[in-house]
Amino acid sequence: MLHAKFTGAVYALGAAALLTVSANAADAGKKTVTFTKDVAPIFQAKCEECHRAGTGAPMSLVTYEEVRPWAKSIKQRVATHNMPPWHLDKTSGIQHFANDRSLSDDQIATIVQWVDGGAQKGDMKDMPAAKTWPDGQGWILAKQFGEPGIVLKSEDYTMPAHGQDVWFKPLTAVNIDEPRWVRAVEIRPGTAQGRKIMHHVLARLQQDEPGATGPDDLSAAGANGPGLLMEWAIGKNYDIYRENAGKLLLPGSHIWWELHLHAVGEEIRDHAELAVYFYPKGQEPKYRTRLMLFTGMSGQRGLDIAPNSIAETTGYTLLRQPARLENYQPHMHLRGKAMSMEAILPDGQVQMLSYVDKFNFNWMNNYIYADDAAPVLPKGTIIKITAWYDNTTANPHNPDPNQWVGFGDRTVDEMSHAWVNVTYITDQDYKDWAAKHKPARPFDRTAQQQQQ
Ligand code: HEC
Repeated sequence: MLHAKFTGAVYALGAAALLTVSANAADAGKKTVTFTKDVAPIFQAKCEECHRAGTGAPMSLVTYEEVRPWAKSIKQRVATHNMPPWHLDKTSGIQHFANDRSLSDDQIATIVQWVDGGAQKGDMKDMPAAKTWPDGQGWILAKQFGEPGIVLKSEDYTMPAHGQDVWFKPLTAVNIDEPRWVRAVEIRPGTAQGRKIMHHVLARLQQDEPGATGPDDLSAAGANGPGLLMEWAIGKNYDIYRENAGKLLLPGSHIWWELHLHAVGEEIRDHAELAVYFYPKGQEPKYRTRLMLFTGMSGQRGLDIAPNSIAETTGYTLLRQPARLENYQPHMHLRGKAMSMEAILPDGQVQMLSYVDKFNFNWMNNYIYADDAAPVLPKGTIIKITAWYDNTTANPHNPDPNQWVGFGDRTVDEMSHAWVNVTYITDQDYKDWAAKHKPARPFDRTAQQQQQ
């Protein structure tokens, strides 16, 4: 706003005068921003979770001495919304999430101002008390649900220093003697080293159920199987099912793992671990949530991205029952650039649900809708996924812009889909919901869409 106000005057005053004007405006009412007073509280709230001793991040951001050498890089990452990892467009689609770790505009401005002002330390009297963190390998959800009901481990695999990608698919029995409803699941690599080689971990659920499709059917269309219990990737650690919803584990079931491993120049041996948190015995949720794959490329398994080009594909999935979508997690590989998820309602209206405009291959972030924001959609809605690929030098993750890139499972091949936990509800539930929520929608149309 400030800038806009001054623009008119600028033409008359000329460039030299502009510098003076904006410098004065910037100084007016501004105090010196220091690490101890202004920046440390933000880092404690938004960065230390990952940037502290013993975690996977490249450096600790706890003390001034640790932070100072990174000031320039911090400004760059924060101002471009690259860090903290939250790569969602904030101007379209649903904006209320259960796990939002992004910075506010004010926080970004404070950090940028601090770096521009010489990244000063400030008075140690202002430094907030150090935050205490659990050490290393605790389960994240144990805070909320207590220790997991069961923990399952896959076999170990030794990934050599060099070689092609590997898909390791061992089987682990789930030892329960009666049906149990699951309220949350969490996966982690067995060791910090293992995080380097694991591209993703799938825990497919194999169990006998009448009328169910096989455990390898992840499509939203074949929605009857137990499907996938959980998918893990950097940026996605757990699923918590909403009130009165969960997954069902039956006696005799197995976890059919898929560990997608890639070589990183050193030999690493590791496995995956799965924690299952149960509902109390006898408590049966009404709804069953299913983890589904919404494709970003209908009928285009022959994806073909020309060298030095940008490509776009779309995928469509029909919801055969009314449903609530619980989250949005775009999955692409090295050429991934952006992905959106829209709902085409039976009346023809198109609603933007979520749009990740700065997809980053290092981060398969899971955007979990807040309770009051999760979209509830009528039967017959079509989910439209649009995916954009950048096979040019502008993409810092691109290993070789001169290659043709096709569809495939290897990291150097490309794919696009969104992992979404879908809770199917009944027609009556939908009617009740719609009556309560009319005319408001669970998501607002953006200003941009309204202008179109
Ligand atoms: C969810 C975990 C997580 C959070 C939260 C997070 N980071 Fe990071 N950060 C990482 C990881 C992992 C990397 C290395 C991979 C990458 O660059 O994406 C990284 C990389 C960085 C880098 C680049 C370091 C380099 O090698 O140049 C900077 C700077 C940075 N983070 C700053 C921050 C700041 C500042 C915050 C908080 C405002 C923050 N990060 C929050 C995990 C996180």
